[in-house]
Amino acid sequence: MQVIETVSEFRVAERSAARPLGLVPTMGYLHEGHMSLARRARADNATVSASIFVNPTQFAPNEDLAAYPRDMDGDLAKLEEAGVDLVFAPAPQEVYPAGFDTRVEVGEIAAKLEGASRPGHFRGVTTVVCKLLTIVRPDKVYFGQKDAQQCLVIKRLNADLNLGAEVVVIPTIRDSDGLALSSRNAYLRDGDRESALTLSRSLNLAREMHQSEILNAKKISAQMRNLIESEPRTSVDYISISDAETLDELDIIDRPALVSLAVRIGDVRLIDNTLLP
Ligand code: PAJ
Repeated sequence: MQVIETVSEFRVAERSAARPLGLVPTMGYLHEGHMSLARRARADNATVSASIFVNPTQFAPNEDLAAYPRDMDGDLAKLEEAGVDLVFAPAPQEVYPAGFDTRVEVGEIAAKLEGASRPGHFRGVTTVVCKLLTIVRPDKVYFGQKDAQQCLVIKRLNADLNLGAEVVVIPTIRDSDGLALSSRNAYLRDGDRESALTLSRSLNLAREMHQSEILNAKKISAQMRNLIESEPRTSVDYISISDAETLDELDIIDRPALVSLAVRIGDVRLIDNTLLP
């Protein structure tokens, strides 16, 4: 496994890489969710690359950039074990050198949900992913359904700018108790985990209600909110039931829908989602 810190060295490696070439973009502190992307990339491609870069432009000034968990040595060991060939791990000034002054911004689909709650977040994500796709030039790029809106935003970016990668979406990996794996779970205080389980439990409740033919979105989201707010230290940022492709809010669930939510447990903000049916 080759670990590369500069764009120019990555370009050299990319030119001689056997194709197809897969890319798994990450911000590091890798868990089984990330590793399921890496393993799928390993199965699909002749060469697998992963990036580790805690992207400063997708964090708002009040968010957890400085505190974002990091473990470069542990991450490299996991990627090696998964059979990754190339790791791109640049320093911030390699990605954003002095004078950097371009932003890549997706429109409507990036303005909803996470985009509304975290202004500027997706502009940071699409700027860095656009750069990663043009530096690495992968045939396939892997993203997790855990960040459902991010997947839709990246698909839009990739199509609109002819970036030429196939965007592959991998199902959410959960702990045995249902909690979706996330680097931010590391911030949960003792005792808050039970409260954090209300995310996946409320999604299960939505699926059950939908299965018993309750199609009224407000009715479902009200029940989800009740369940979440019954646990201590929870505060709902949003609960959304939307068209799975456009993310337009639905009154009646009459088409494939995405149920997504963001909840604060104390000061830890977690997101999760499920598709209906
Ligand atoms: P990060 O949060 O490190 O996640 C990297 C990838 O892992 C994303 O595609 C995310 O959806 C996926 N992932 C995270 N938790 C998962 C889980 N429990 N199951 C399956 N996949 C999971 O997302 C980012 O980084 C950044 O925004 C990035 C795309 C790297 C741009 O900076």
